[in-house]
Amino acid sequence: MKHSKNARETVLKASRAYYAHRAYYEDLLVQHEPRYVEANKRELTFLEHAFRTHATHPVKKVLDVACGSGRHVFGLAKLGYECTGIDYTPERIQIAKERAKREGLSVKLHQGDATLLNYENEFDAVLALYILFLLPNDNDVQKTLECGYRSLREGGILVCNAGNPFYPGTSWFSLQTIHKGLEVVEARAPGIHSTEIVRLRNFDPLQGVAWWQETNTIETPEGIHVFRDRERLRLFTYWDIVHYLQAAGFEEIKCYPDWEINPRKKPKAEKLVFVSRKD
Ligand SMILES: C[S@@+](CC[C@H](N)C(=O)[O-])C[C@H]1O[C@@H](n2cnc3c(N)ncnc32)[C@H](O)[C@@H]1O
Repeated sequence: MKHSKNARETVLKASRAYYAHRAYYEDLLVQHEPRYVEANKRELTFLEHAFRTHATHPVKKVLDVACGSGRHVFGLAKLGYECTGIDYTPERIQIAKERAKREGLSVKLHQGDATLLNYENEFDAVLALYILFLLPNDNDVQKTLECGYRSLREGGILVCNAGNPFYPGTSWFSLQTIHKGLEVVEARAPGIHSTEIVRLRNFDPLQGVAWWQETNTIETPEGIHVFRDRERLRLFTYWDIVHYLQAAGFEEIKCYPDWEINPRKKPKAEKLVFVSRKD
């Protein structure tokens, strides 16, 4: 399917604005809000397990293709991995660079587009986490996974994820939430109280695309900030992701529901995590 350059740019611009203007508070919440800290710990444990189980050689060099403010690259750098993070939003890269400096961590960080990477046979592991759902079109999803494949050395692994649209509970990625229409999430970190009101609007059941509209109020001792955003949200089924990964060149693909270390059938999983190896 052909996609107009303008439509892609409009979605990327909206996405960039969304991540840029909340980047500072988002980073503080990620580092201090207990639920986020716990999720981060769980994901890092999973990543190390996947590195040990699926790569054919010890993983040393890791590329995170939409690293945000760097929560995975910093966690992995602390465990001794050599990490590179790229993100489309320069404000997030800037925040990550400041954190690297503050914490004395050696991590390479660059602004860049996941669909236009120039690495070849360089990394033992590539991460594409919490990014596929917000890419503006099918072509970008395919290119991101192809760039990931190209960046890997033989025997290296790519880890990517998606929400399960058929999860029966409320989650940002479930049809249930789309039909319910509204989700409210509160988060607290020292000096911050964040309330997000998310509406999933104009769901297109043919393409599996909804519009995510959010009003995020952040109360701090200095004042109250209100952020409003609109982003495109794409729902993927298990088979969609498997087909994209196969088209990118991956043959060995394993799905781990909900970041659980033991892969098993779990139809009611909220999150689907895929580990694929370049053979
Ligand atoms: C939901 S955040 C996830 C960040 C990080 N992976 C994490 O798990 O915390 C999505 C990130 O994707 C970035 N992004 C969006 N489109 C991108 C693209 N085409 N190339 C690289 N990064 C992109 C955004 O700037 C944002 O930081």
